[in-house]
Amino acid sequence: MEHIETALLAANDTGLESAARLLRAGGLVGFATETVYGLGGNARDGRAVARIYAAKGRPQFNPLIVHVPDLEAAQALARFDDTALKLARALWPGPLTLVLPRRDDAGLSDLISAGLDTVAIRVPAHPLARALLRRAGVPVAAPSANPSGRISPTTAQHVMDGLAGRIDAVLDGGPCDVGVESTILGLAVGPVLLRAGGIDVETLTRLLGTPPARHRGNGTLTSPGQMASHYAPRGTMRLNAETAHADEVLLGFGPVGAALNLSPTGDLVEAAANLFAHLHTLDAMDAAHIAVSPIPRHGLGAAINDRLNRAAAPRP
Ligand code: TXA
Ligand code: MG
Repeated sequence: MEHIETALLAANDTGLESAARLLRAGGLVGFATETVYGLGGNARDGRAVARIYAAKGRPQFNPLIVHVPDLEAAQALARFDDTALKLARALWPGPLTLVLPRRDDAGLSDLISAGLDTVAIRVPAHPLARALLRRAGVPVAAPSANPSGRISPTTAQHVMDGLAGRIDAVLDGGPCDVGVESTILGLAVGPVLLRAGGIDVETLTRLLGTPPARHRGNGTLTSPGQMASHYAPRGTMRLNAETAHADEVLLGFGPVGAALNLSPTGDLVEAAANLFAHLHTLDAMDAAHIAVSPIPRHGLGAAINDRLNRAAAPRP
């Protein structure tokens, strides 16, 4: 792949303007959202979308999330029924992605939906992301800004480490607050939870009146995180470990003696925010064997356990 100079842009007017101009012109820009950093490209520009897959080394069949600044912009891309409107009004901007029927006049690159007649949309809450989306004036396709199969980035430096030389710029919005990706809810055929994430399922259940169905991989729907080891650090991982063996580094949770702790006080929100940064640190430490404390499954614990299970899955 051609080597390009990657600019690190500051979170000011000049940085925003450069990033917006690059996006409009078909460039690739890493940018902060409240969940993880996204690798943005103009969703109307097929060449820009193709470059996203190439930069990530991502299999082409995985559809992308389209980011827009508000509900009105989203309604130009997809059909919202009453349920979709209710969820969008309650939880946008925020870490929720809705998969909805795509409008015929959406004007999105076909690559975005990878052959499906639906589109995944989200309105991120990070103020810099919203400012960028407003200025860019185009819908922005953005998967997490990491090489395919590697840990999702939660700082601008993580993006530079993984993708410098392959993308045009990174807009530095500081560390991400939420730290795990958005929750993905399919609404094209009744509420189906496609990926656990930053909005917990209890909140969705309260708004929907009933719990969403759980997606079971049936080979027909292109589902999130098809590759089990999607979030893997280089070392092996052993989950639900009360203590570490002599050759292991302990990734702790709660009041345990661990060099690296997701949340010493057992706070799931803090643990989610630290998760990917700590996995990056374990790689930087060259940790060959990693033991992970048990993490409760309620609230954001569902998303954290999902990511850890994938990280611990057998590698391809
Ligand atoms: O928090 C997030 O969602 C981050 C930030 C950057 O916004 N983005 C992110 O994107 O996690 P990505 O590409 O890593 O994950 C998108 C997931 C994919 O696993 C894909 O399968 C699913 O969304 N997806 C996208 N469009 C879909 C569709 N039409 N139907 C079903 N799943 C879809
Ligand atoms: Mg990803």
